[in-house]
Amino acid sequence: ATTRYEAETSPAVCTGTIDSNWAGYSGSGFCNGTNAANAYAQFTVNASAAGTATLGARFANGTTTTRPTSLIVNGTTTQSPSFEGTGTWDTWVTKTLTINVNAGTNTIRFNPTGSTGLPNLDYLDFTTGSTQPPGDT
Ligand code: GCU
Ligand code: CA
Repeated sequence: ATTRYEAETSPAVCTGTIDSNWAGYSGSGFCNGTNAANAYAQFTVNASAAGTATLGARFANGTTTTRPTSLIVNGTTTQSPSFEGTGTWDTWVTKTLTINVNAGTNTIRFNPTGSTGLPNLDYLDFTTGSTQPPGDT
């Protein structure tokens, strides 16, 4: 099952502003992180069971420069995804990542490691149990 967590919806944290000036976002806006290292966006997600989960992070980066981040799950850095330029700020792309989660509440933080900060972040799609047989929900 997939649950969508909007970047503008509590308990998500956006170190920056929730903006709506670039078209194509889902919900009521997106997180425009402050252009600085460590100006993170964080999602709090619920997993019904421990195991592998798939993340779909929808973003736009209207520059030609990749923005590097650390992906911090429950306080531990797990990988270093970087968000490439998407051409324009209203061109949104989904980056797919795989993590391990605990049963229950998990925090998923994208922490920018460069001075340009994060790309604009629209939402996080969180999928668990993707190998279930047809008919399951
Ligand atoms: C522009 C754009 C913002 C974006 C910012 C950035 O100001 O309008 O939406 O967040 O660039 O470089 O991060
Ligand atoms: Ca920004």
